[in-house]
Parts: sequence; structure tokens; C-alpha cells
Amino acid sequence: MVLPKDIATVLSGAWVLLNNTPTDLNGVPLTTDLPLGSKPVGILTYHATGHMSANLASTDPDQRPMDLTYPSKPNQSDAEWALVGKHTLAYAGGLSVKEGSTCENGTLYHGPLTVANVPSWVGTSQERNYTVFRADEGAVVLHIYTRDEVNKVMGNLFWERLD
Ligand SMILES: *[C@@H]1O[C@H](CO)[C@@H](O)[C@H](O)[C@H]1NC(C)=O
Ligand SMILES: *[C@@H]1O[C@H](CO)[C@@H](O)[C@H](O)[C@H]1NC(C)=O
Ligand SMILES: *[C@@H]1O[C@H](CO)[C@@H](O)[C@H](O)[C@H]1NC(C)=O
Repeated sequence: MVLPKDIATVLSGAWVLLNNTPTDLNGVPLTTDLPLGSKPVGILTYHATGHMSANLASTDPDQRPMDLTYPSKPNQSDAEWALVGKHTLAYAGGLSVKEGSTCENGTLYHGPLTVANVPSWVGTSQERNYTVFRADEGAVVLHIYTRDEVNKVMGNLFWERLD
């Protein structure tokens, strides 16, 4: 796995989540049981030295009990904490691209992950397809998309580079 310098330059930066529209395998948008809720927030950070982090969370109030604190307190319910855990995605690790990838599109890998809020993700590499393009307003947009045959879902996330 490699991260060619030209692609590293295009990808590196902090990206804010614009839009997350998961679909079924036919491309029909999913509207229920979205793990990150209806209006997630996210920041994706890529470093040219081959490192990344991704932080995403639901903002739906029923998935975000506001009375929790960190560290947790004995009088806070595990059920409320479970809700937070199910609707949050946070991980970090290596960053590389598949051979044949270009500055415009290709396949990248988040991983091997060294930190992940989902324990089984530690040590894994998450494959993602990508396209980078310039939007009409001039913003640089990164489209990350995946086809997950196991869960019958296609991930479909748009990110805008923060200057
Ligand atoms: C839990 O305990 C803290 C003090 O440790 C208190 O401030 C808070 O109101 C309590 N929360 C509930 C839901 O009882
Ligand atoms: C990737 O970009 C090239 C042009 O740079 C284009 O020919 C090709 O179809 C694109 N592939 C995908 C999968 O978007
Ligand atoms: C990326 O795109 C290729 C070509 O369309 C496809 O075979 C592959 O399954 C995709 N990978 C992911 C993670 O969706």
C-alpha cells in the first residue's frame, strides 16, 4: 500500500461532512435506521505522511442524551451510553491508496486502524472508493463511496475541504 506524493497532496487536509446519503444496493436512499441519524456531523482528516482520522456522530436528539458527562458517572445509564456508542464513529490509523488510483479518483484505505470506537475495527483496513472534484462554487469536494454487499448498503458521503 502506498500514498503517492501527488495524491497525498490532493487528499491531505481537513474535510467537513456535507452530506451522507446511504442507499440500498439499487441506489435508493435509505431513510430509516441510519446509524448516524438524519443529519450527522463529521470531520475527516488526512495527513500527507499517510495518516488519517475520521470522526462522525449523529445530531438527532433522541440519539444524543445531553445529560452524559465524560468520564461517565455511576448514576448515568448504560442504555444512554449505548445509544451514544451506536450513533458515533471515530477511528484513526494509516492512509494509503490502491495501485492505479489517481488525483481524480480511485480506491483508498483507512487503516490499518490503531484506534477505533468499534473495537473490532482496530487492525482492519477500511476500503473506500473516492472521487475528488471542484464544485461550482469553487470548493474542493471529496466523494467517498462504498458498496457493502454484506449489509446491502452503499455508503455515499460528500466532504468539503476546509481551508
Ligand atoms: C448524577 O450525579 C451528579 C453528581 O455526581 C449530579 O450532578 C447529577 O444531577 C446526577 N444525575 C442524575 C440523573 O441523577
Ligand atoms: C477516473 O477518472 C478518469 C479521468 O481522470 C476517468 O477516465 C475514469 O472514468 C474515472 N473512473 C471512475 C471510476 O470514476
Ligand atoms: C470500488 O469500485 C470498484 C469498481 O467499481 C468496485 O469493484 C469495488 O467493490 C468498490 N469498492 C468499494 C469498497 O466499494
